[in-house]
Amino acid sequence: TAAEKAEALLQQMTLEEKVGQLTQYSEAWDVTGPAPTGDVAREKFEHVETGMVGSMLNVIGAERVRKIQDYAVENSRLGIPMIFAYDVIHGHKTAFPIPLAEAASWDLEMIELSARIAAREAAAQGLNWTFAPMVDISRDPRWGRVMEGAGEDPYLGSKIAVARVRGFQGEDLSDPLTIAATAKHFAAYGFAEAGKDYNAADIGTVTLWNVVFPPFKAAIDDANVRTVMNAFNTLNGIPATADEWLQRDVLKGKWDFDGFVISDWGSAVEMIDHGVAADREDAAFLAMKAGSDMDMESYVYRDHLKDLVEAGKIDEELVDDAVRRVLTVKYELGLFDDPYRYIDEGREASLLFTDEHREASLKMAERSVVLLKNEGSLLPLKEGESIALIGALAADKDSPLGNWRGQAEKGSAVSLMEGFEAAGIDFTYAEGAAVETGDAGFATEVEVNLDDRSGFAEAVEAAQSADKVVIVLGEDALQSGEGRSRADLGFPGVQQELLEAVHAANPNTILVVMSGRPLILTWADENVPAIVQAWHLGHEGGHALTNVLTGAYNPSGKLPMTFPRSVGQIPIYYNHLNTGRPGPRDVVFWQHYIDESNDPLYPFGHGLSYTEFDYSRLRVRNRGDQVEVSVRVRNTGDVEGEEVVQLYIRDRVASIARPVRELKGFEKVSLKPGEARRVSFTLTDEELGFYGPRGDYRVEPGAFDVFVGGSSEADLTATFELSRD
Ligand code: IFM
Repeated sequence: TAAEKAEALLQQMTLEEKVGQLTQYSEAWDVTGPAPTGDVAREKFEHVETGMVGSMLNVIGAERVRKIQDYAVENSRLGIPMIFAYDVIHGHKTAFPIPLAEAASWDLEMIELSARIAAREAAAQGLNWTFAPMVDISRDPRWGRVMEGAGEDPYLGSKIAVARVRGFQGEDLSDPLTIAATAKHFAAYGFAEAGKDYNAADIGTVTLWNVVFPPFKAAIDDANVRTVMNAFNTLNGIPATADEWLQRDVLKGKWDFDGFVISDWGSAVEMIDHGVAADREDAAFLAMKAGSDMDMESYVYRDHLKDLVEAGKIDEELVDDAVRRVLTVKYELGLFDDPYRYIDEGREASLLFTDEHREASLKMAERSVVLLKNEGSLLPLKEGESIALIGALAADKDSPLGNWRGQAEKGSAVSLMEGFEAAGIDFTYAEGAAVETGDAGFATEVEVNLDDRSGFAEAVEAAQSADKVVIVLGEDALQSGEGRSRADLGFPGVQQELLEAVHAANPNTILVVMSGRPLILTWADENVPAIVQAWHLGHEGGHALTNVLTGAYNPSGKLPMTFPRSVGQIPIYYNHLNTGRPGPRDVVFWQHYIDESNDPLYPFGHGLSYTEFDYSRLRVRNRGDQVEVSVRVRNTGDVEGEEVVQLYIRDRVASIARPVRELKGFEKVSLKPGEARRVSFTLTDEELGFYGPRGDYRVEPGAFDVFVGGSSEADLTATFELSRD
């Protein structure tokens, strides 16, 4: 087995060689060019050249990977190949919708396919490891990285985590079209206080076990994810990288995870700033002791681990355990059989950005769009209508690619304007107001005047002379993502003013929101008749959105995150506790705001269609060890449509307070006009139980409510009594 081979190899390794396997560098020089001269790059280069490094990050392309793999195989004493990592997050060369958008599809097959295609393209460029999926649950849209996850719910998040890992890793990890996946960031990174990236997380253990952990556990148990990345944040004051309980007791102990842990970029050395490590040596000590196996870009293992072992401060068995894990994954990837198996110029030339991949990206994008509001059936657009298409994002060929866009070429997406052109729609375009379009992957400052209202008059005029307005507002690709936390979740710049001016000119206004997170759409909801949440949809965004707006595709997306009415409601999430004062008791003393409603603007699971679905005949059969729930769903409109049928439960009385609702099943069904289908779910101990504060799993007898419908506010309900001896 891979583990036995790893063990045999380990026995031949020197301590220095072992430390090398636990070191990962990002490319810091042109690997196909001459040796670098700068100090840091030179030092890295020398380690790489002498085969003393276990992994590289950000070396992309057959030629580059071959060059580096040559060093590892030829120059290391034992010929140990490197493993090549990259953030393949939502597509590689072909951009798919951002992960939060894909999550809105609730379409596990499509999500798996999206990851499979991303893996195929990445592997064709010599890569064999992605730092995805991000499985962090988050309840805070201020946190820019919500774009990279599956939203707020642990059940949906777990299903999606499994689909993504299966997509990346496939059936056989040694297949050169699959890559190893990473469940990240362990743990509680999505609970950064105040939604500020990298901030401390401070949550109770019940939330940790029931909300944060499940997607990680599912990725391990149900998809055998091969690596886990730890996190930048502290949890209860302990940086994740130094958290022995998280990494050794829970992950590798209780859950039996047998892959390896990669620390996040520099997270080991950042423990000095956290005030937990005294110096770099201490950081290496804490990280290794806690079970962080490979060090990404802190260089503290490289510089201190050998000394720590020789001084007797770190038991060499801890190092061996880490190396064993890394080598095992390398064996599983087939890298020892052929270190060059992922490097194939032929595949690189033929497998990237193919028509087939773009077609899949289009399908995924169509399914990711969420129709939030459609008063008076303003949508779909009808043939022959004249349209004013307004907003810089409507013509933007870059923003649809989203953040973390891998190797997608800048400005290569289909814009909505191009989609309209291709569909032969009669439209006039006016920019109205600019959005900030970042220039490079990490640009934070760009020269765009966001207060410029000089385009308003042209937009208003276009609106006045058209039958309908389609106005596209929101965030550009780089206004969400890592390091892009926001305190104000309105439209950046003067876009809100533009919306109001345009709407005043023509009330038949359809608002299309492009964003990497839920924005505050309260004014729009009160005033604008139709609203479409379009996220950042990837390469085919413009075509997909056109299909949705014209009805060529009937929207089927459902929100994976609650949309707040105002920033002050955050964190707002559907599966909250009831509290002791849930409803109005008198004027003041109950859980509420004196200046804001408790309700979200749009609840979790919400999403409309151009048809309607009727739910009836809810049946609950209690079979002792499991409960079967079924419901009849009928398409009562006159077009075909897909509906995500959602099942929620509530445990009425338990040893600890349980959420008012929890998603425990869903199925996406397609129904023709008039067609009806019975959809069934089975609830077992896995769905009916919960974790106590110490991580003990409990299934408690008693009354449960069931709710079934098309959102977390579903009102068709029944009750059953769970009995357990
Ligand atoms: O994978 C990422 C991680 O999610 C955030 N820090 C950088 C890593 C590598 O790019």
